[in-house]
Amino acid sequence: MAVKGEPYFQSDQVSGRGLRHTLLIRLLKYLKPYWVGLLGLLALMIAGAVLEVMPSQFTLWLINRFMETGSMHGTGHLVAGFMGVLAMGFIVQMTRFVLLAWVGQRAMLDLRMELFAHLMRRSTHFFHRNPVGRLMTRVTSDVQNLNEMFSSGFVAIVGDAMSLLAIVIWMFSKHAGLAVVALAIMPPLLLATEIFRRNAGEAFRETQGRYAAIQSYLQEQLSGISLVQMNAREADSNAGFVQLNRSYLDAFLRTIFAYAVFFPVVEFITSATLAAIIYYGGVKLEMGTLTWGLLFAFVQLSGRFFRPIRELAERYNVMQTAMASSERIFVLLDNADEIHEADTPLPVAFEREIRFEDVSFAYEEGGRSVVNDLSGTLPKGRRIAVVGHTGAGKSTLINLLMRFYDAGAGKITVDGMDIRELKLSSHRSLFGLVLQDVFVFSGTLEDNIVLGRPRDKQRLASVLEQSQLKDLVGRLPLGLETQVGERGQKLSAGERQLLAFARMLYLEPEVLLLDEATANIDSETEAKIQAVIEHVSHRLTTFTIAHRLSTIKEADEIWVMDQGRIIERGTHGALMDLDGHYAKLVRLQFEEEEAA
Ligand SMILES: Nc1ncnc2c1ncn2[C@@H]1O[C@H](COP(=O)(O)OP(=O)(O)OP(=O)(O)O)[C@@H](O)[C@H]1O
Ligand SMILES: [Mg+2]
Repeated sequence: MAVKGEPYFQSDQVSGRGLRHTLLIRLLKYLKPYWVGLLGLLALMIAGAVLEVMPSQFTLWLINRFMETGSMHGTGHLVAGFMGVLAMGFIVQMTRFVLLAWVGQRAMLDLRMELFAHLMRRSTHFFHRNPVGRLMTRVTSDVQNLNEMFSSGFVAIVGDAMSLLAIVIWMFSKHAGLAVVALAIMPPLLLATEIFRRNAGEAFRETQGRYAAIQSYLQEQLSGISLVQMNAREADSNAGFVQLNRSYLDAFLRTIFAYAVFFPVVEFITSATLAAIIYYGGVKLEMGTLTWGLLFAFVQLSGRFFRPIRELAERYNVMQTAMASSERIFVLLDNADEIHEADTPLPVAFEREIRFEDVSFAYEEGGRSVVNDLSGTLPKGRRIAVVGHTGAGKSTLINLLMRFYDAGAGKITVDGMDIRELKLSSHRSLFGLVLQDVFVFSGTLEDNIVLGRPRDKQRLASVLEQSQLKDLVGRLPLGLETQVGERGQKLSAGERQLLAFARMLYLEPEVLLLDEATANIDSETEAKIQAVIEHVSHRLTTFTIAHRLSTIKEADEIWVMDQGRIIERGTHGALMDLDGHYAKLVRLQFEEEEAA
């Protein structure tokens, strides 16, 4: 059996070869604006490292004083100094914590904004290829992983290294022999860490990929839940989830096993080293070349000394996770799948006509051609209608007009200018698009009509009137302030379509693009909408795709499409006289209506 979750794994895995300089250098770019904060952090880390050895120095003084005199009398200033050092340590730690979070969160904020803005510019094509769940992971958990890397990885490693350095310097300055014994822990500990890293790293990356797969799967299955339930596919969905969940567990257990071995090993090595320090120290004590105070201080310091080394593996994992995340983020940021804006985009002027000139187009490169060598003109102020079989390529023409995709061959022109030369945003704002499937944002009805454009009460009122939405608004207790629910769940399909009309009219476009725009509306309301279209189309250009032929009889020109070509064109009357494809379609529908 094929793995159900297979498609969810695609391209979520990365090459993952540990820490790569190019990635790190690129990540540094995000910290650059906060270099002052970073400098502050560095200063705090140096202070922290010095403060780390200070308590041991005071321990040394206090114990030696006691051993010499047999009394704590007169050590008040030492105790006070000790307390002062601890208080300073507290302040430094606290400041460091806040500063670290501030710098990290700032940088992540910037990155999230860059990612979102980048996503907004991707082409339709891109979104067809990348599931929403995966893109969400990029902006949320992947960015979060980077923050972890900065705080628990990078900065922590630098801080630890400084503390270690301070401890090592202090140890050698006090007793080189004992320092060497304490340092003997390094080779076995580093070796254990390296072995752990090798074993855990691979499994760890796998865990990540599988976790992302679970997220994609969840997102899709929950979005399509009604379809799943309607077809009684719950068991199947479950099975898919079980499989993904299991594979995640497997990978996770492999990492856990590595941890389970690593920690006891480290514990053993540290304890053995401690024993060696005490033994060697004892011998030196006997010989009189070591003081009690110093031995105490060494034992105390070695505890602080092991922790950073032991945590190195942990830190490495954090770094590695973040490396994988950053690679995925950069792959996304490097994605150039967008509709290119010309280098010097020209202003849009639509005075005469929009033309398809020998346009051919395939959705996939080298794939089946969906539009073939098609030519046609939309004269300003005229009504063009398109009819044809399902899959003939009608909606594709709208995709091309709006520049959701660019034509493969040939060109589309506005007043003779290739649309690829025009400023994309102003080109798109020529059009008002109403589709059969209306997307509604959560928020109020008014928000959904205005869609972030300036609010104009008068225009809103006239738009409500024109789009026949007034009745609905009148019926609702909260009127335009009614919350429509996620994706407009609280509206009927027809109401959503009226909303789309209102939205489009509010935009005041020059060209109406209607793709099966009245398919969900009852005949009476449709007639009213038709009247509105009739009315506005005196000043607007309309491009209507319709299956219900009664709605397009008055068009100035009807294009009959088949397999990406226009096979007949003319007015309703002319096409009826021609007695070809269109006439046949009309007769069929007429018979259906008669039968009904
Ligand atoms: N995003 C896409 N990727 C690949 N192929 C696509 C895509 N969208 C549409 N197609 C294919 O392009 C062809 C034309 O699709 P189009 O949506 O233009 O048809 P249509 O004439 O609008 O049909 P309908 O009347 O059913 O809406 C179809 O065969 C379809 O399978
Ligand atoms: Mg279509």
